[in-house]
Amino acid sequence: MSAILQTPKDWPSVLLARAGAKDPGNIDEAVQSGAFDGLRRAIRELGPEGTTAAVEAAGLRGRGGAGHPTAAKWRTAAGTEARERFVVANGYGADPAASTDRTLIEADPYAVIEGATIAAFAAGAEQVFLSVRATDTTAVTRLQAAVDAASSRNFIGDDVLGSGRRIEVEVRPVQGAYMLGEETVLLKALDGKRGQPEQRPPHPATRGFRNAPTVVQNVQTLAAVPAILTGRKGAAGTILVDLRGHERSGVAEVPLGTPLRDIVELGGKPAAGRKLKAVVVGGPTGGILPPDQLDTAYSYEDLRAVGAHIGSGSVIVADDRACVVDLARLLTRYAADEACGKTIPCRIGVRRLAEIGERLSTGTSRGGDLGLLEDLAADVVGSALCDHERLATLPMMSGLRYFRDEVDAHYLRGDCPAGVCRTVRLATDRAPVGAPA
Ligand SMILES: Cc1cc2nc3c(=O)[nH]c(=O)nc-3n(C[C@H](O)[C@H](O)[C@H](O)COP(=O)(O)O)c2cc1C
Ligand code: SF4
Repeated sequence: MSAILQTPKDWPSVLLARAGAKDPGNIDEAVQSGAFDGLRRAIRELGPEGTTAAVEAAGLRGRGGAGHPTAAKWRTAAGTEARERFVVANGYGADPAASTDRTLIEADPYAVIEGATIAAFAAGAEQVFLSVRATDTTAVTRLQAAVDAASSRNFIGDDVLGSGRRIEVEVRPVQGAYMLGEETVLLKALDGKRGQPEQRPPHPATRGFRNAPTVVQNVQTLAAVPAILTGRKGAAGTILVDLRGHERSGVAEVPLGTPLRDIVELGGKPAAGRKLKAVVVGGPTGGILPPDQLDTAYSYEDLRAVGAHIGSGSVIVADDRACVVDLARLLTRYAADEACGKTIPCRIGVRRLAEIGERLSTGTSRGGDLGLLEDLAADVVGSALCDHERLATLPMMSGLRYFRDEVDAHYLRGDCPAGVCRTVRLATDRAPVGAPA
């Protein structure tokens, strides 16, 4: 489990409320601290629609990156005529550098199990799959032990809390590349098939696993549900970030809407003589933001407006030793390598963006490269099967938007001011063909 960062006392602790437990797998201790109280209320008091209405009233939105309203998915699945329905907890954690979901599963497996069971109750599903990255062995083992313990107490299984409702919960370790975190790919992997994203609509809530209505929900989204039903303060409004800070790194639970500055400060100050240069927000397809954007609220809309996104919850700070062109190049290369190739503008377009990044960082830019970069990014956005295409443009586009001088130094002079890129210096002071004189 990653280190859990200390947050200010007035920030609510919802997802990590039980993180301090000596033995997170001990069901007696978990129950004593309120585990399965939300499920009990859903079943004995609220009923399926009342449960969905409570989650809707709280305003819960998906923590898997895009922020879809949670209750809407449950209602769609419940309202779709079908013989069977499914709930899938997405705990895959596609970003290899972010451990938010894994940390949650390890710290409080019962919150995930309870949230998924409540979702199944509300959506009319009898089967829940808890998908976890197979290499996260502690998370897999802990979740499996917690499922066994919850089953032995009738919190899940044939007769949930004596209600006559059957909700089976199964841990499903999955392993694959970055795209496996995308919901339609994950659904195919769970069915033992090779996956590429599918055209939507229909969304999985209408037609998902084996063509049945399927609620796919990030594990953090699900873990917030019991807290909502038991009336915990701020229950629908926190999210986990994986901060790589100047002095400290780890996972922190932050209220949505917190200024980015407060999150960065959890990680301490830059080393003596150094200053903050950039913050990469959103993981491999994150936006690269300069210090003057630190007042931006960490929320779906505000981050999108500045060219970043919540994504994997990753927030990485870089001091003035870093080169933004090099960062953008690396991230775009990763995004191009991980693109599944099904959609041509993404398969070719993101690769071309990565090549422009490579040329910038080696001092071999061609005239018109920056214009091409903007044109390509505009073409790539909006013609995709999945969000990866749009998101993959963010590192380069935010680099261009906020660090133009540094980009121009590479582009026009083959110079890397931070001394990071191994640029092949141009033989003369000649600018790239076609670049402004
Ligand atoms: C390339 C790509 C990778 C993704 N990886 C993850 C992931 O690792 N975990 C996750 O929960 N959602 C991931 N998503 C989002 C899912 O497709 C889906 O929207 C999410 O699991 C729905 O849950 P939510 O509504 O609770 O956020 C990814 C999306 C894309 C386009
Ligand atoms: S947009 Fe990219 S990653 Fe998504 S389906 Fe198309 S090729 Fe695959």
